[in-house]
Amino acid sequence: MYTPLIKKILFQLDAERAHELTMQGLQRLAGTPLAFLLRQSVPTKALSCMGLSFKNPLGLAAGLDKDGECINILAAMGFGFIEIGTVTPRPQTGNDKPRLFRVAKAEALINRMGFNNKGVDNLINNVKKARFDGILGINIGKNHDTPLEQSKEDYLTCMDKIYPYAGYITINISSPNTKGLRSLQYGELLDDLLVSIKNKQNELHQQQGRYVPIAIKIAPDLTTDELIQVADLLVRHHLDAVIAANTTLDRTLIQGLDYCEQSGGLSGRPLQSRSTEVIRLLSQELKGRLPIIGVGGIDSLMAAREKIAAGASLIQIYSGLIFHGPKLIKTILADL
Ligand SMILES: Cc1cc2nc3c(=O)[nH]c(=O)nc-3n(C[C@H](O)[C@H](O)[C@H](O)COP(=O)(O)O)c2cc1C
Repeated sequence: MYTPLIKKILFQLDAERAHELTMQGLQRLAGTPLAFLLRQSVPTKALSCMGLSFKNPLGLAAGLDKDGECINILAAMGFGFIEIGTVTPRPQTGNDKPRLFRVAKAEALINRMGFNNKGVDNLINNVKKARFDGILGINIGKNHDTPLEQSKEDYLTCMDKIYPYAGYITINISSPNTKGLRSLQYGELLDDLLVSIKNKQNELHQQQGRYVPIAIKIAPDLTTDELIQVADLLVRHHLDAVIAANTTLDRTLIQGLDYCEQSGGLSGRPLQSRSTEVIRLLSQELKGRLPIIGVGGIDSLMAAREKIAAGASLIQIYSGLIFHGPKLIKTILADL
């Protein structure tokens, strides 16, 4: 359905408006006899990761369906797993608009959304209504007005609430659009956060009799030394996976292009090689002790293969879906 004409019309609109219209249109279509138009059949490529069984290794990255409003429709497109969120304990509107920009010539996006979401309780209601037989990841963060010293509480509050509904939980400490968030990736702050998260996971596991794996999502802007430190801490604290990577602050590859000066996180093709490099470095350091979920600039079968060759067990897409449409899912899965 994502024909060149529809894409052209959507690309004439402000990027966030186009996103809203697309999501609303998809939701409306889903309840009609035309819903079959959204369905794509893809080959099954079953695998096991984090102790979970995936239909295929290709997932939707966090941020596209922040409130879990379109789980069924996205599932029909063929994803093996869907990550919803980032969700915060309380609803929040996010940063002022405009806050999402297309750097079309580079097939890239810049966003400074700032975790706009309707809060964790609303997300849970949506998850309860969804019918998705794949793996559902729920990505959690802190409210923008929670002081950094108390951010741990926000993650723990969300964990308490989402644990029964999540296939896996992602701890997002790498968005560039929430002040101070990325500082949770370093040294004592990370160590302390991981201790609390593992304690909470153990407590909920005992209480509910189900182990929900936890992934940590990191930024591509960490140095090699910092990546090594993160990897060591993840192993030491027995985390279940690492997601590499979130958007980048680096603008080197889009110099001179429209919107390159906009602040926020850059995603899409210019992130591709850095994200692969981060995966390779992590893979060398982790030596298979925990799996890597690779994300960043996957826009073709070749790019997907590169991520897996670098050490990713699972992969995710976001920007590629905007520039190439749902057929990218089929293209990747047909020959992966
Ligand atoms: C508009 C937009 C919003 C995003 N929001 C989130 C988010 O809420 N949480 C998160 O962990 N990542 C978020 N991301 C990052 C993506 O999940 C992904 O890590 C990043 O875009 C790189 O993948 P890509 O190049 O395939 O887009 C967002 C990305 C975009 C473009």
